[in-house]
Amino acid sequence: MTLTITPSGQACGARVTGVDLTQPLAPATVAEIRAAWLDHHVLAFPDQKMSDDDLERFTASFGGFGDDPFIKPIPGRAHIIAVKRRADETAPLFAENWHSDWSFQARPPAGTCLFGITIPPVGGNTEFSNQHAALDAMPDGLRRRIEGRDAIHSARGGYAPSGMYGARDAGRSMDIRSGEEAMATQRHPFIRAHPETGREGLFGCAGYIIGVEGMDDAEAQLLLYELLQWQGREEFRYSHVWEPDMLLMWDNRSVLHRATGGYDGHDRLLHRTTIAAWDG
Ligand code: SIN
Repeated sequence: MTLTITPSGQACGARVTGVDLTQPLAPATVAEIRAAWLDHHVLAFPDQKMSDDDLERFTASFGGFGDDPFIKPIPGRAHIIAVKRRADETAPLFAENWHSDWSFQARPPAGTCLFGITIPPVGGNTEFSNQHAALDAMPDGLRRRIEGRDAIHSARGGYAPSGMYGARDAGRSMDIRSGEEAMATQRHPFIRAHPETGREGLFGCAGYIIGVEGMDDAEAQLLLYELLQWQGREEFRYSHVWEPDMLLMWDNRSVLHRATGGYDGHDRLLHRTTIAAWDG
């Protein structure tokens, strides 16, 4: 099978054709897709009429499933969640702030797969920011402030009972289950070598990062804010435009992502899995 890989022309992302994801993939094809994924960080596969079985099989072939807390899976599936929003929904958008999926875990998922089912005619792009590029271009002074330091990650701002998706969250069509376990913290270095490519990048950002190891809170919050402004700069971004029947896979170790709105009055539905941390 010969893949055609067309780069987005932006800071990351490529469109991949010449493969049928409704069929089991040969190991050589999985290896080819993996290599493209590591190069481009975000891959879009258009015109894939995938079922939930196909989505699970695709995810499994890239390393098995991640552990997805706080969001109830769709009926009959242990590993698929629905990212959805009704046309008339007024709750704040889900996942609107930059993040790397579940970066508060000890072994966060290597990647995420998102399959477009109901795609609004306008808006609803998913934006990505390339964190290798962000580190490469980072001013020395800012880099020195995080070099060798650990970030403290936590789900509390989103998923604790007091968090954004907690007890006060109302009218949301997604089935989010907040809990006290969201208060836990986990450290990861700000600057990490990608476990597969060895390329250095920034990992995570303010939001799931709630503090800096060994730094007082006031100083840490200023640093995290400054970093976030840098990490999300326009020149590191790729804005993904959805099509129905499109599968997107991204590398949480290389990019941040966020949802965008602009589709009030239209339904939006996507099915999502995460790919387990890479064991080498
Ligand atoms: C997500 O972060 O998984 C959702 C992205 C989106 O809805 O565009």
